[in-house]
Amino acid sequence: MIPESYDTIDCDVLVIGAGGAGLRAAVAAGEAGCDTVVVTKSLLGKAHTVMAEGGIGAALGNVDPRDNWGVHFADTMLGGQLLNSWRMVEIFAQEVIDRVYELERWGGLFDRTPDGRISQRAFGAHTFWRLAHVGDRTGLELIRTCQDRAVHAPNVTVHMEYTLTTLLKDGDRVVGAAGYRRNDGTFVVFRAKAVVLGSGGWGRMYKHTSNSWEGTGDGAALAYRAGAELLDMEFVQFHPTGMIWPPGARGILVTEAVRGEGGRLYNSLGERFMERYDPKKMELSSRDVVARSIYKEAQAGRGSPHGGAFLDVRHRGAEYIRKRLPSMVEQFHALASVDITTEPMEVGPTIHYTMGGVRVAPETGATTVPGLYAAGEVSGGLHGANRLGGNSLGDILVFGKRAGEAAATEVAGRAHVAVDERQVEAEQRALLAHLDPHEEGENPYLLHEALQEAMQDDAGIARTEESLTRSLHAIQELCERAPRMRVGGRRILNPGWHTCRDVVNMLVISEAIVRSALERRESRGSQWRLDFPDLSEEQGRVNYVTDDGGDGMRIRAVPREPIPPRLQRLIDEELALRAVTTIPVRPDQRIEGPAVAAVGREA
Ligand code: FUM
Repeated sequence: MIPESYDTIDCDVLVIGAGGAGLRAAVAAGEAGCDTVVVTKSLLGKAHTVMAEGGIGAALGNVDPRDNWGVHFADTMLGGQLLNSWRMVEIFAQEVIDRVYELERWGGLFDRTPDGRISQRAFGAHTFWRLAHVGDRTGLELIRTCQDRAVHAPNVTVHMEYTLTTLLKDGDRVVGAAGYRRNDGTFVVFRAKAVVLGSGGWGRMYKHTSNSWEGTGDGAALAYRAGAELLDMEFVQFHPTGMIWPPGARGILVTEAVRGEGGRLYNSLGERFMERYDPKKMELSSRDVVARSIYKEAQAGRGSPHGGAFLDVRHRGAEYIRKRLPSMVEQFHALASVDITTEPMEVGPTIHYTMGGVRVAPETGATTVPGLYAAGEVSGGLHGANRLGGNSLGDILVFGKRAGEAAATEVAGRAHVAVDERQVEAEQRALLAHLDPHEEGENPYLLHEALQEAMQDDAGIARTEESLTRSLHAIQELCERAPRMRVGGRRILNPGWHTCRDVVNMLVISEAIVRSALERRESRGSQWRLDFPDLSEEQGRVNYVTDDGGDGMRIRAVPREPIPPRLQRLIDEELALRAVTTIPVRPDQRIEGPAVAAVGREA
């Protein structure tokens, strides 16, 4: 009988997602005295955060004292091709330094410089050696540390293996969320005075991705359906180096730290082909450029046997490789029977990260819906058209903390509101409709597969009006079929049933990606339009915002706020520096010419 009875759990702040952003938000809210509940559809400690392996970008200046937040600001803006929210980038570049030291105080382990400071390594498009790291397991260490802090924080409770499928509202305001327990399918409602999304991004609508099964964009879909705006959805990051062979390992991340440690890319002719595309930065060019270069080599018939490139780090020596890249050694040995100390790796682009996301206020992470906050990959704005490697781990620490604190401030003095039973009932009906054993229907796995084909082939690394339109038509057709998805069995541990809602969420997000990509008629960052290969000055002045216009999805061009002169100066100085040197600049490199003054500057 619907509404079926359900448990109600009350809290001040509900955090959806237990990756780095969710956990950091929970610590902040808990330490501010709020009764805080973290809900994850997965297990604690298992989040895409661990896939940011190479390090945390933060201008500590430990390896190169010339680094400072101003250069990090400029690198991030230039990497994002200036579509970033400049205010978010400013906050980020300034505060990430403290967040790294805070993590260290909380027990996070880092590799060390010879004099005992946190070590930093080179990474793509970072001017200086900037990534604080522990081998190639930095995301794992971050999440381990935040997890430890969260479970010991006052007032923080964690619920694992719960899927939240809708946000509950009282008028315009978000007042909680409803969903079910994955183990037995029983329904549950969380009443909250504020909700923070820290639910990560979306890669599972693509065939080849570094995202695990969780990356279905639930948080952004929930926010969209609750009336929130999404930003920059066209920008989806292909990490240049995923495994491409054997087929079962395809998409698994090969950390950028391999290139940070000197790894070189070769084509089938043995050419170090990055010379053709970015002779200054070579393998440490930005991710969009390196991913496209590998793709172009393969398209030109110079790819590796399985359509990618060779990544070779053998020249660093076996001992060094084992010390600095232990996970990569293990990964290639276990999954591909390749010894990376003696053989090159075969790699190709893999969907890794989403720059777009829920539109938020830079200072607080507040979305455009009262009572709802977002931080980390689920939110948009920080990374613009292309994220620099290493900037996601800092993002989740800086903005997770801010969102948790802002939510805690907002709930002070607020009371819970009664749950609107009609909303719960409608959600239960929608979920249970997929479980009708008497009705033949669509298979959710086949719909998912069809969506992956449509996105990988037609809304992937290279796009045209024609391919995107094809993709949109395929999505629309799948949207019509989705309500007819049916699975057998009961609600106890039923992955088919879980997949039905995943598919519904991925369809919404895919539509937003494709519609935004159609609107952006230029090539910028990760958006590569073969039919519009150049930057457009006009489109460089706008972000695309997606929302539900009432009778369907709506995409609007919103002028981006001009960069204030004090910050524009930092970008101009960085450009001057780049004109006379290669990046990343090594501490032992001499810098000649007019950029000398800029390098010594204080931001
Ligand atoms: O390649 C990597 O280690 C990934 C880092 C990141 O996405 O920030």
